[in-house]
Amino acid sequence: MMLHPSANVIGGEISDLDLSSPLDANTFREFKAAFYQRSVLVFRNQTLGGEDLLGFARQFGEPDQHFLAHYAHPAHPKILVLSNIEAKAKKIGFADAGRVWHSDGSYMQDPVAITMLYALEVPEQDGQTLGSTQFASAWRAYDTLAPSVQRRIAGLLAVHQVGGRRRQLNTGEASDRAQEDAQPPAHHPLVRVHPYTGRRYLYVSKGECEQIVGMQDAEALALIDELAQSIHADANRHVHSWRPGDLLIWDNQALQHLATFDYTWPQHRRLMHRVTIPESAIRADSR
Ligand code: SIN
Repeated sequence: MMLHPSANVIGGEISDLDLSSPLDANTFREFKAAFYQRSVLVFRNQTLGGEDLLGFARQFGEPDQHFLAHYAHPAHPKILVLSNIEAKAKKIGFADAGRVWHSDGSYMQDPVAITMLYALEVPEQDGQTLGSTQFASAWRAYDTLAPSVQRRIAGLLAVHQVGGRRRQLNTGEASDRAQEDAQPPAHHPLVRVHPYTGRRYLYVSKGECEQIVGMQDAEALALIDELAQSIHADANRHVHSWRPGDLLIWDNQALQHLATFDYTWPQHRRLMHRVTIPESAIRADSR
C-alpha cells in the first residue's frame, strides 16, 4: 500500500488501491493502522457503486441510516445523498451538511466513529475545484491545551443538540430543521479516549453544544468557545480538495470538519455519497 502523508498533522493519500473489491486481511490491517495514525485519508480514482461503497464500509462495521430518510439513496438506504442539484425544483440530496464545524452524529447516544464520502460530481470554476472540506484534529487540540485547562475539563459532560448547529445559521429546508429540532440531546464527556489509538481528544462543537452539565450558561458558552478555538487552530488543520472519484474516509472521533459553500446551483453541481458507521458497530478487531 502506497501512503503519501500530507505535510499537516493529519491527512494523506493512498494511490494504489481499488476499493471495488474487498481489501485482503493484511492490506486492510495496514490501511487501518495508517488511517488511525493520519485520521483522514483519500483513495483517488475510484469507481464505486453503492454495494462497493457499503462493502468497503462493512470491513469496519455495519453502517447506520441517517434520520433525514428522504435524502437516502433510493436503492441503498444506508447511503446518504449530499447534493446541491435540483430536479423538479427539489434538491436530490441533503444540500446543507457541514455548514459549521462538527463531528458527525455527536448529537446521538451512539455517535459516528467513521465517515466515508465518495465524490461523484465536484463543482469547478475556471479550472479550480470548489466545495473543499476542512478538517481539524481534536486529539492534537487536547494535547496542546494548557495542563490547567486539561484539569478543568476532566470529567465534564457537554450537551449535544443537532438543532443548535442550524440555529446558528438559519439555513436549509424548514422540514429538515423541524426534524433536527425533534432529535433528543445527547450527553458526552468533553474529553474522550479514542478506542483504537488511546489518545485523548476534545469532543465539543460550538453551536451544537450550548450547555455543560452543572455549569452556568455564560461560563459554559465561554468554555465551549475557547475549546472550539483550540480545535480549529491552523496547526491542527487539513483541507481536502475534491476530485471526482475520491473516496475520503475520516476518523470522526479524532476530527471535526467543515464544508466550504463557495458554489451555487445551477452554475455548479456537487454530488456525494456518504456512509457512516456508528461507534457501537465498529468490529472489535477494528477498534
Ligand atoms: C459533512 O459535513 O458531512 C459533509 C462535508 C462535505 O460535504 O464537504
